[in-house]
Amino acid sequence: MSNADLMDRIVSLCKRRGFIFQSSEIYGGLANAWDYGPLGSELKRNVKNAWWRCVVHSRDDMVGLDAAILMHPDTWKASGHAENFTDLLVDDKETKKRYRYDHLTEEERAKVGTRYTEPREFNLMLRTQLGAVGDTSAEVYLRPETAQGIFVNFKNVLDSTSRRLPFGIAQIGKSFRNEITAGNFVFRMREFEQMEIEYFTTAEDSEACHERWIQERFQWYLDLGIRADNLKLRPHGEDELAHYAKGCTDVEYRFPFGWAELEGIANRTDYDLKQHAELSGKDLRYHDKITNERYFPYVIEPSGGVDRATLAFLADAYHEEEVEGRPRVVLKLHRDLAPTKVAVLPLLKKNADIVAMAKNIKSDLLKSVTCVYDDTAAIGKLYRRQDEVGTFYCVTVDVESLEDKQVTVRDRDTMQQQRIAVDQLKNFINDKFSH
Ligand code: GAP
Repeated sequence: MSNADLMDRIVSLCKRRGFIFQSSEIYGGLANAWDYGPLGSELKRNVKNAWWRCVVHSRDDMVGLDAAILMHPDTWKASGHAENFTDLLVDDKETKKRYRYDHLTEEERAKVGTRYTEPREFNLMLRTQLGAVGDTSAEVYLRPETAQGIFVNFKNVLDSTSRRLPFGIAQIGKSFRNEITAGNFVFRMREFEQMEIEYFTTAEDSEACHERWIQERFQWYLDLGIRADNLKLRPHGEDELAHYAKGCTDVEYRFPFGWAELEGIANRTDYDLKQHAELSGKDLRYHDKITNERYFPYVIEPSGGVDRATLAFLADAYHEEEVEGRPRVVLKLHRDLAPTKVAVLPLLKKNADIVAMAKNIKSDLLKSVTCVYDDTAAIGKLYRRQDEVGTFYCVTVDVESLEDKQVTVRDRDTMQQQRIAVDQLKNFINDKFSH
């Protein structure tokens, strides 16, 4: 299958089975805006929960934050976004389309001035108005990164938690960028979600700390099942570094459309805190109460995209196989990510006792995992339906189950089946999905 075909099949599965829909589709859609459906919202939530569990709950040097999307406009002056968060844009005079200059090939760049207009700077921040219309003082931006919400709250977090260096603040939330060319499904959108960490440490520790975070973030994707040969690290060249960064390494994934950035891990130095201290006039230095020193900590920033990670997990999990001469599409999602952990399927839907037993099992399992009941097709079709959306186990209730109080548990990936006593089932399932 070609890569373009693979992408088409993923997009089509996402729509057909309720993972991702085009935004406002009934009105013809809004370009590059996407909505997560019933299964997609579960998957995306699982991605965020896995991240939060890994970077906040399982560490003692991290805390969380949930800052507002709208921030004081001075934030973006201090951060440099008002001035520097720009892309070079060119217009194609023939097609009237707009392109990022850095996305043009050498050949296309040679046509700048003839076919393409001269490149001009375009700020990517989305602007809106607060309160009464017409008052320019009420003009604000939709944040282009969640990071600044962390920097402006650095002092609040320090004062309210008595943290000592090194420690980090994690945040998940929406960001907005007026991308000149968006595309590739949820890979590049104008409204998207980020998972960001600002990890505060000393200047002396910053290089080693940067390296540790690069390794930890790379491992996170592997631990959640991404195949190692689809993942790589790419250090940035000097010319690609953001205006605030001293160094940056991307975790890249081999998407069907090519290698591309999943997450960037940057050394932001003490740039942001210094800038905010200067513009706000507030002392944002860290006070080491033991040595009595005051200084601006260095910041290591692992910054990933929820939507890109979700797309990578989907693409990596997508498999087409042939089983007994028939095609099978299966999403081999990691157990933490699978939107539905268990489907309970009655073998004979006309048998009221089987149906009642299956529904009881489902109600019981629902207390601890996501679980569905389905009796709307023959068992072979029900299995395929669940495989296609990555359901981890199918539990089948049959006539023998009424006698021996056992059910058949089928593993999604191996398709192997085992009989398990109903009174052991909950433990079996909970063991599999507990942390
Ligand atoms: N605070 C640093 C920062 O925002 P970035 O490399 O511009 O750095 C971080 O963005 C991550 O956010 C990217 O690695 C990507 O996963 C995600 N991201 C950025 N722009 C995006 C877009 N237009 N659509 C979807 N995800 C995006």
